Amino acid sequence: MSEWKIRRAPAMQSEIEVPGDKSISHRSVILAALSNGPCAIRGFLPSEDCLNTVGAMRTLGVEIELSPDQTSLVVHGRKRHLTAPTRDIDCGNSGTTMRLLAGVLAGQPFRSRLVGDASLSKRPMKRVIEPLTQMGAKITAEGPDGRPPLVIEGGPLQPIHYYSPVASAQVKSAVLLAGLFAKGKTSVTEPTQSRDHTERMLEHFQVNAKKTDLTVSVYGDLTLESRDFIVPGDISSAAFWLVAAAAQPRSRLLVANVGLNRTRTGILDVLVRMGAHIRERSDVRTRPTEDEAGAQTREISKSEEPEPMGIIDITGSKLHGCRIEGSIIPNVIDELPILAVAGALAQGRTIIADARELRVKETDRLAAIATNLRLMGVQVAETEDGLDITGGAPLRGAAVRSYGDHRIAMAFAIAGLFAEGETTIEDTDCVNTSYPGFYKVLEQVMHEPRQPQIPVISQLPRMPDGSGDH
Ligand code: S3P
Repeated sequence: MSEWKIRRAPAMQSEIEVPGDKSISHRSVILAALSNGPCAIRGFLPSEDCLNTVGAMRTLGVEIELSPDQTSLVVHGRKRHLTAPTRDIDCGNSGTTMRLLAGVLAGQPFRSRLVGDASLSKRPMKRVIEPLTQMGAKITAEGPDGRPPLVIEGGPLQPIHYYSPVASAQVKSAVLLAGLFAKGKTSVTEPTQSRDHTERMLEHFQVNAKKTDLTVSVYGDLTLESRDFIVPGDISSAAFWLVAAAAQPRSRLLVANVGLNRTRTGILDVLVRMGAHIRERSDVRTRPTEDEAGAQTREISKSEEPEPMGIIDITGSKLHGCRIEGSIIPNVIDELPILAVAGALAQGRTIIADARELRVKETDRLAAIATNLRLMGVQVAETEDGLDITGGAPLRGAAVRSYGDHRIAMAFAIAGLFAEGETTIEDTDCVNTSYPGFYKVLEQVMHEPRQPQIPVISQLPRMPDGSGDH
């Protein structure tokens, strides 16, 4: 079990890219596998979670070619017909793999069994079992109270209109994917908008995903036309560096080629409310050339890629606390651990509410954050659905645990950059589930400050809300 030792770092001056978006990488493989031909995917995230999706699709008979660095792949679409697996499908730590595949397998005329690691085996699956059963699938949860492993007897499905009690992109996606195998119109209405990558990708594969307000519908029995696809950098991975830069006056960070889908950029809105200076531009991509030290920029064509991506430029300042609650929660659901750290570094109180979902992530994230912040000397109260953090006191280095949760490990590594003394993060292998290479960037930002080179940044518009005017 590996551990990291972190020390306080000087103000960050850096220009980085982050690996491919995890949610989009999963979906690119699954939808490409259902399409009617070969699809080339670039910018794929070669993390354990996404490679579990690749392994799962291979177990279902899909031919997938991976480049040596595993960021480019060619998926040979099977026109919606998968092969009955001869062994269990291992989803590892990945809830996205299990829940999205449950939707696909509900429509396949065979039996399959989905298993996961110790953490995934504790996560709730009733949220997908219920709608998929309504559609006609037979699903047995072998664990207690609807927990994995899941045995799925797929077959003919009927369309439903599902009113989801949780704002979950995984639930929405499972139902929409099953809807591809039902005759007629399948709709999902969610209580608040969750990330919309499945809808966008269906459109990219020429399947009309009709959207009105909080309802998305698909018609079954349609052909997914094979398409190439570029996965943007993951804003949830960028989030760690964004907070590290935002909370340190004199820091400047530029993140290039990062996804800027509005259902994921809530972190920028929250950081602006906390007083960060942020500029972004979504129609520019940087491509460093070999014979030039600096980076070049080029405009990107919107039709080429269904997901917006671009540049975020952030300058550090003194942050102040804010409330994070209500409809923004699904938009920042994966960023709440690092936003809690931002709250600890900000002056005043930061209140997170309506975030009960954090209790059923890779670990109980509310409990893990509260325990670790207290160990670092922060005053924090844990509520049923959130946290009340009193920020501004100096952080002190401590030995904290990841609880086997990648985002807890990375959030507290960033906290360690601001603490007096040494911070030890125990059990850090889990970081490979979403961000292999995180520690390398951490070392780079701690020891090799470098001025951002990209010239276009001075022309970037400011974020709305009077960013940086606080
Ligand atoms: C994801 C959706 C979110 C998020 C998870 C990835 C997805 O989960 O926390 O990391 O790819 O659809 P929920 O949909 O359960 O909120």
